[in-house]
Amino acid sequence: MKQLPTSDPRSFMQQADVHCAYCNGGYKQKGYSNVSFQVHRSWLFFPFHRWYLYFFERICGKLLQDDTFALPFWNYDSPSGMQIPAMFNESSSPLYDRLRNQDHLPPVVVDLNWGSRVTGISPDKNQINYNLNLMYKQMITNATTPRLFMGQPYRAGDEYPTSSGSGSIEIAPHIPVHAWTGDPKQHFMENMGTFYAAARDPIFYAHHANIDRLWNIWVNNLGGKLFSDPDWLESSFVFYNEEAKPVTVKVKDCLDSTRLGYVYEDIDIPWLDAKPTPRRRGVRIVAISQATQVFPTALDRVLDIIVTRPKKLRSKEEKEEAEEVLLIDGIEYDFSKQVKFDVYLNECDVELSTPANTEFLGSFVDVPYHKHPTSMEKGSVRFPLSSVLKELQGSDEISGIVMVTLVPQCGDATIGSVMIEFDTSKSSGRLKKLRNTKEKEAAEEVLLIGGIENDCSKQVKFDVYLNECDVELSMPANTEILGSFVDVPYHRHPTSMEKGSIRFSIFSMLKELQRTGDISDVVMVTLALRCGDVTIGGVMIEFDTHRARGELEGSQAVEPRNDRAYKHHPRPKAEESKATLAARKAGLIQMAGEHGMLHGL
Ligand code: C2O
Repeated sequence: MKQLPTSDPRSFMQQADVHCAYCNGGYKQKGYSNVSFQVHRSWLFFPFHRWYLYFFERICGKLLQDDTFALPFWNYDSPSGMQIPAMFNESSSPLYDRLRNQDHLPPVVVDLNWGSRVTGISPDKNQINYNLNLMYKQMITNATTPRLFMGQPYRAGDEYPTSSGSGSIEIAPHIPVHAWTGDPKQHFMENMGTFYAAARDPIFYAHHANIDRLWNIWVNNLGGKLFSDPDWLESSFVFYNEEAKPVTVKVKDCLDSTRLGYVYEDIDIPWLDAKPTPRRRGVRIVAISQATQVFPTALDRVLDIIVTRPKKLRSKEEKEEAEEVLLIDGIEYDFSKQVKFDVYLNECDVELSTPANTEFLGSFVDVPYHKHPTSMEKGSVRFPLSSVLKELQGSDEISGIVMVTLVPQCGDATIGSVMIEFDTSKSSGRLKKLRNTKEKEAAEEVLLIGGIENDCSKQVKFDVYLNECDVELSMPANTEILGSFVDVPYHRHPTSMEKGSIRFSIFSMLKELQRTGDISDVVMVTLALRCGDVTIGGVMIEFDTHRARGELEGSQAVEPRNDRAYKHHPRPKAEESKATLAARKAGLIQMAGEHGMLHGL
């Protein structure tokens, strides 16, 4: 690959530049010729890099004349893989890159949450545990919804850069492993420490194979749910395939890695047992004067910020539908420098808190950019709070405020705001009878009684009841009576028969009437005539969106998988790949990839 002429799109240099083009403004958005396209910091992160590796792997296979070739993954989430794998370290090997941090060569243990001025903690045993706790946080604690794990929506026309919408894994370990590997003596920490150059280091592909593997683990082992939003499913990228032909591929066609012909070697996942625990429980947070909290504020010292929770008591159903999320927004920093700060919740002594503690929420971290459409970067970072708060609070004591502590580690940043938002992305795609908070906010469920015909010269009245089996016992004091249709006689009217209709919003009544956990998809409406003669045209449910500007979120299902049987070639652990290769040469391992599926796309 390195020997191909640089005019060949399959050459190593051009392949590395594919990554650069997709993250340093090389492409404009279709239909928005002045908006740059970016594959980081949003829900495009996982699918873009999966397709990118796929074609890289296919090109390698073609050049090696071995269509079972599989990229190795750098297994840094496991103690045995927490240093640069041996295969990348021999200076005579094409896998070697001299632009790496010379202080981080083996046996130095990687810091999965690294920021330049922060040296990893020592001794190595602590660093290993720190990494395992951090993996648990990023894969489980901070990954409770599709948006929090895979990144925020990024749709056609969205500004570049969107305020940083990176998911938990993109933030860490992804960014820190880039920054930890790159050479700090280079201006932008080339190669790995900046995206335009990162893919020039062959270790990039092993790093991203592991990121891709973590995505699979989240979906297959941890029950993570993919987005069903068509804006995500239909997003597309262009790559050169192994025949040096450009092909267009869509997000929806990479969601099942077995369809792309590979699986990951099934190995132990040690961080599953590394759940952080609270350092202290039941710490009382006292509100400090709001006046001291003026935003935007420079993060030039440790900042304590009191945040009010908009809703401290939420029902079980509300919690299932919407995650309570801490949002640190409007983070401004110079894009050409590395930046990192740590975030703690209800922690009175940040010096004592580590990723082994629940109080440490995680970090905001970014690598320097070489080129950028704006000189200041605007970023944001999010952390789910429900389970963390539950672990931290003393029994039955539910506080309406939380204390957030920001600790600068490197770079200069300004904080725009700190607040709580609700993330409903894990409940999208449920039945309409179960509507998420955003949908409920966007549209009221309304009972419509239409086509009511009555003689316009006579008085008319009927009462309307909901789920009431005995209307005689129901009084206006009861939830069951929705209200009445009533009209006075008209003296003159252009038509002799009046056509009317009446609407009742029913959402809050249904909530009060239903038994816990029991949500019915039918309601019973009872009409009781009190005076006049009336004909009813129809009774139905409609949705009234007038009170909100919001759009309803699509709840389209993911397309059924193509269940053609594919054979898989497992991507091996990096440190084992030599042995695997030898075994394969000796004919001990038979693996065959099924190929050609992309030609039709
Ligand atoms: Cu596209 Cu790890 O970067």
